[in-house]
Amino acid sequence: MTKHLRNFCIIAHIDHGKSTLADRLLEETGTVSIREMKEQLLDDLELERQRGITIKARAVVMKFRRGKDEYELNLIDTPGHVDFQYEVSRALACCEGVLLLVDAFQGVEAQTVANAYAAMEHDLHIIPVINKIDLTHARPDEVAEEMMNSLGTDPDDCVRVSAKTGQGVGKLVDAIIEHIPEPPRDTEAVLQAMVFDSNYDDYRGAITYVRVMQGTVRKGQKIRFLRADTTHDVVELGQFTPHRTACDELSAGQVGYLICNIKSLGDVHIGDTISIPGDGAAEPLAGYSRPKRMVYCGLFPSDGQNFSDLREALERLAVNDPSFEFEPETSDALGFGFRCGFLGLLHMEIVQQRLENESDIDLVQTAPNVTYEIVNKRGETVEIHKPQDVPDPGDVEEFRQPIVRCNIIVPTDFIGAVMKLCQERRGIQKSQEYLAAQRAMLTYDIPLAEVVYDLHDKIKSCTRGYGTLDYEIIGYEAADLARLDFLVNGKRVDALSIVCNRADADRRGRAVAKKLKSEIDRHMFEVAVQAAIGSRVIARETVPAMRKNVTAKCYGGDITRKRKLLQKQKEGKKRMKAIGNVEISQKAFMAVLSED
Ligand code: GTP
Repeated sequence: MTKHLRNFCIIAHIDHGKSTLADRLLEETGTVSIREMKEQLLDDLELERQRGITIKARAVVMKFRRGKDEYELNLIDTPGHVDFQYEVSRALACCEGVLLLVDAFQGVEAQTVANAYAAMEHDLHIIPVINKIDLTHARPDEVAEEMMNSLGTDPDDCVRVSAKTGQGVGKLVDAIIEHIPEPPRDTEAVLQAMVFDSNYDDYRGAITYVRVMQGTVRKGQKIRFLRADTTHDVVELGQFTPHRTACDELSAGQVGYLICNIKSLGDVHIGDTISIPGDGAAEPLAGYSRPKRMVYCGLFPSDGQNFSDLREALERLAVNDPSFEFEPETSDALGFGFRCGFLGLLHMEIVQQRLENESDIDLVQTAPNVTYEIVNKRGETVEIHKPQDVPDPGDVEEFRQPIVRCNIIVPTDFIGAVMKLCQERRGIQKSQEYLAAQRAMLTYDIPLAEVVYDLHDKIKSCTRGYGTLDYEIIGYEAADLARLDFLVNGKRVDALSIVCNRADADRRGRAVAKKLKSEIDRHMFEVAVQAAIGSRVIARETVPAMRKNVTAKCYGGDITRKRKLLQKQKEGKKRMKAIGNVEISQKAFMAVLSED
């Protein structure tokens, strides 16, 4: 009897039906029976279900027989969002083929294109799949043509399926067996395995997902993580069927998991290579890199009291998500909190949402900023994670910001609106292609800072929801940037500093100063609110001094009203933060931050 292996991923835009198709494949191959099938086995995290986004890659093995042949199909589940591009690339490096899944009604979207290019770079066999052919508005012929125009796939190769009804899924299994190449099976060579994912189990510690490239890994043996340079015993190994099922060994070509008594996910690096201890180890696999945090923001508990709760919650999160990082930060305005780093915007939203779901903490978030690079007058390059750390203008030789290449797919009617938007965001157009008569792909290079804030929402709203955006970081470029500070009676309010283009500084400075003025209560003296770059003030507002006693209007009136008023004032005081001699409520900062 011969055993055949196939390793593949499904790549698809959000909601094109990846999880549903995965479920149908498990059913079709008899891996789980229909009765066993809970809705969407692969998306087990509650939050993923809520957001409908597969955040972490998982792997499932499908084993079945056909006549004399035994098959083992490994489906590696990939995250579908740009922030997790590196994880996607590692998952692709473990496959020989991909199913490129496109919705028969929606057609090709930005994410599909980006991921298809990544699969081509890895030289994988691509099986184009058109899903949702059961929909009455399905237009599979047009979508096949769009796929040909944008991705170069042959319309005759497209497998048409409905992941909902199961139609065509049998044919898809045939296509996987027929077209995706068998992985190399050198089981006797020195062990070399790729770590493509990990997750954390409260009882077993880190669970490391691997694809064995060559050799064999056995239960009880010692292994070494080459990049991390740590040695461990393999306590358990196995595959997901889709439940964790232990076995004695995994050999070249197979995909599975290892448990090695590793207590923290921080010790398992995605993209690392596993081999044997000592000099005889295999070469580390190419393509390894560390997760790079591109977006930072401050998180503060909103009433300053549950700081330690917040710390605990962040620690719990970090155990499960090594790409998220945090460090304590103190702000005059917001008190004690944390500076947090994320892979990107969506990653930031996910972490915040988890924090709010899993712990009962009310959060204040400062405006997100990207990672900048500054070359100072001494010629050193420093990475900047928060605006307050930008040196004064006199010490900045060059200010650099990350640039991303954006692919935007839109119906042709909206090209004008999207181009205008991208130009406003300092985008430089790289190309414009037609995928079909009614759909075009625009490519722009745009500063990440301009994308981070709300470009995606803006594109959605100016295309009535039809436009899709995807981006990848292409590098850093010098720009005319400055740190814009806000001062209250001459004292800088750290939480409000931002980095912006010098050309925008006047407008933004005026807007925030105005807003701040409206949020600051009158004091016994005049309060000056200023926006400044270095020592140069570019905008000023004044909160006039208080003229009347607040309780004056109560004299002669009802004493209980007066008491209430005083009580209210006292409560308000509790949440006041002092900036110099000026008291400002935390609410005021929040209003200003949300405005920005
Ligand atoms: P993410 O996990 O968010 O990336 O989404 P996904 O690509 O995994 O999509 P999912 O499988 O969650 O499907 C999205 C929606 O499309 C769900 O409401 C499915 O029920 C529906 N759907 C999936 N396949 C089909 C299909 O073949 N026909 C129809 N009519 N609906 C489908």
